[in-house]
Amino acid sequence: MDRLLSDAEIIERVFHHIDNNTTDLGDEVWREPVQNYRCEKRFAAELQMMRRLPMPFCPSAAIRDVGAYVARISAGTPLIVVRGQDRVVRAFRNACRHRGRQLVEGNGCTRSFVCGYHGWAYRLDGKLAKIPHEEGFPQIDKRELGLAEVAVTEKGGIVFVTQEDEISDGALDSLPDMFLEEQFVFDAKDYLQPFNWKLNQEAAMEGYHIKATHSESFYPYGFDNLNVVENFGRNSRITFPFRRIEELRDVPESDRDISGKVTYANVLFPNVLIAVLSRHTAMAVAEPVSPFETHMYTYRLSNPGNDGSSEALSEARYDADFVAETGLMEDLATTRSIQAGLDSGANTHFTYGHFEKAIVHFHKTLADQLSRAGFAD
Ligand code: FES
Ligand SMILES: [Fe+2]
Repeated sequence: MDRLLSDAEIIERVFHHIDNNTTDLGDEVWREPVQNYRCEKRFAAELQMMRRLPMPFCPSAAIRDVGAYVARISAGTPLIVVRGQDRVVRAFRNACRHRGRQLVEGNGCTRSFVCGYHGWAYRLDGKLAKIPHEEGFPQIDKRELGLAEVAVTEKGGIVFVTQEDEISDGALDSLPDMFLEEQFVFDAKDYLQPFNWKLNQEAAMEGYHIKATHSESFYPYGFDNLNVVENFGRNSRITFPFRRIEELRDVPESDRDISGKVTYANVLFPNVLIAVLSRHTAMAVAEPVSPFETHMYTYRLSNPGNDGSSEALSEARYDADFVAETGLMEDLATTRSIQAGLDSGANTHFTYGHFEKAIVHFHKTLADQLSRAGFAD
């Protein structure tokens, strides 16, 4: 499926499931070798694949101002993504062209990048602007020593970075917009977790676990195993309805507003989740560090209609804190536990069933992309 259902269609589908005690089903069962979460060779192939895909890097809103940058490792490569004087976003390999010191770390805003080692200075467009005591380098042509640039695309409110020649299938062209211009970042955090990046992604891709895992956090507001699951391109959207969606039964179809009645979990292949919640939207990047470690980069954004007033902002924060302190903690604990359990040797494969349709799509897509990138098991 390439078109996502409209909100009205989602509401009807959810009502159908409530009335019939059903949920969306995939038509395939998938068996994934446990070794694929542990193997260094497979991990290296996944990174290699990521370097050849447009990887969602951060929300555009995280680098809204001229000079705003995010510097972090992506698919094993230290990168800087920055908005230039011309408001164009550029990406560079994060290393000085003199002797390679990294120029910046984390998030910030600057007029230029000045290396902390000997003070070589680069403009926001990457050009080498200044070498202190330049007479020490009579042979150097400054035009050849700008920062090493990497391909970047800004689309639908997200910045994508492609490090190497792309394995292109035009996937970005058909990607629906994820954020509107008016949405702003009100919180950004990053933290390390002891699990494989794929286990993190899988946690967001089904509602089969809601009752057992989130018995006191999400389940009282939601349903047991009741979801709409749409695969689109390499990605998926999983709809988690709230019980209060019932309020829309009496509302004429044309007047129904789905906001606050469902959570949309958009899983962007390979390693990003964008969850549209009642009063905020969360974007989480699961950056692989090793087969056993993932660096999470999370952004929380306002929802459309939030005017940034202190009242609207505190409602968004309340929503974000509830999710972060309850459901997210439960998911992270489960994911860490799965990773630790890999060592038990109990399973040679994990089996993903008909309720885990989005996970099956994820693994099929991953296998397909790995083989296109030349990796065979
Ligand atoms: S390494 Fe950057 S100025 Fe020398
Ligand atoms: Fe969960």
